[in-house]
Amino acid sequence: MVRFLHLISALEDVVTKYLLDLESLVESSVREDEFIYNACAPLVNGGKKLRPVLFLLCANSQGDCPREKTLPLAAALELIHTASLVHDDILDNSKKRRGIETTNSKYGAQIAVLVGDYLFAKAFQLVSNGNYGAEVSGVLSALVKNLCIGEIMQDRNLFVVPGMSEYYDRINLKTAIFLSSCCKLGGIVAGLDKKDVESFAAYGSGLGLAFQIIDDLLDFFGDEKVTGKPLGGDMKSGVITLPVIRALQVSDESDVLREIVTRREVTDSDIEDAIEIIRATDAVEYCKMRADGHIDSARINLPFPIKDSVGLALEQIADFVVDRSW
Ligand code: FPP
Ligand code: MG
Repeated sequence: MVRFLHLISALEDVVTKYLLDLESLVESSVREDEFIYNACAPLVNGGKKLRPVLFLLCANSQGDCPREKTLPLAAALELIHTASLVHDDILDNSKKRRGIETTNSKYGAQIAVLVGDYLFAKAFQLVSNGNYGAEVSGVLSALVKNLCIGEIMQDRNLFVVPGMSEYYDRINLKTAIFLSSCCKLGGIVAGLDKKDVESFAAYGSGLGLAFQIIDDLLDFFGDEKVTGKPLGGDMKSGVITLPVIRALQVSDESDVLREIVTRREVTDSDIEDAIEIIRATDAVEYCKMRADGHIDSARINLPFPIKDSVGLALEQIADFVVDRSW
């Protein structure tokens, strides 16, 4: 989180003043039960807090929005995200997240399902105590529904090479709608015009598509110590992503790559072979080019006039999303 803040210097002005309160609200939400606290405190205390930061920026884009109107929903967004990661790590059978052992690896899938559900329930407790009303609840329920549909779509097509439009449907449901909803909710809570709320939503959507494409790239070419997740996790769990889709289109060794990525059992050496085949193509540049395109369309949608510091922070977040190494 500190590293993310350093990168986004414009956040200092707008969000830094809320962050300590946000972090303590998130942490206190899991304090009630000692076992739950030990199981999820390291996870809820980590991460970039990108979702609540986007929400807080958009909520404060015209002027200061009262803390009591923003903090509970900001914390709820982070808790929903964390709940989804706990469940995602069960589905992907992941061993590490944010540099620490995943809940399912440490306690088993049964406990991890319940820890995820607990975080999810805590999120909705904050929302209900915050009296945000039907529009906010509608956005939240649609975002969670879409997360689930995205994950189901992914799970039903493991080890199957998706077409480009299926890949995009999946990353839209899994990630873009979430970031878009955070921006949209900021606009709603701030009482902005419908047009500006939709512009924020479109900014978040472009940002989310780019974010997931870079995430998929880092899964092959990131540094495990920096990403906090093992390399090749997507391939091991059968999730076929854009670097592979592109390499299959252009590689001389596409038959070998296809055979590896559609096989249910792969060794570390298979993963290394696949990475080398992908690296020998233009897949990395291609993914970055696509991510840049989504970031450009995100930027075009920034509504005006907004506070200079918020505009700058949203611009810097857009830069961060494509240049990030974690
Ligand atoms: C990470 O994707 C996971 C998601 C973006 C969404 C996970 C959503 C669910 C499991 C369903 C919703 C559940 C609740 C409780 C709201 P990834 O696997 O591509 O990224 P990773 O490499 O970080 O794991
Ligand atoms: Mg995963």
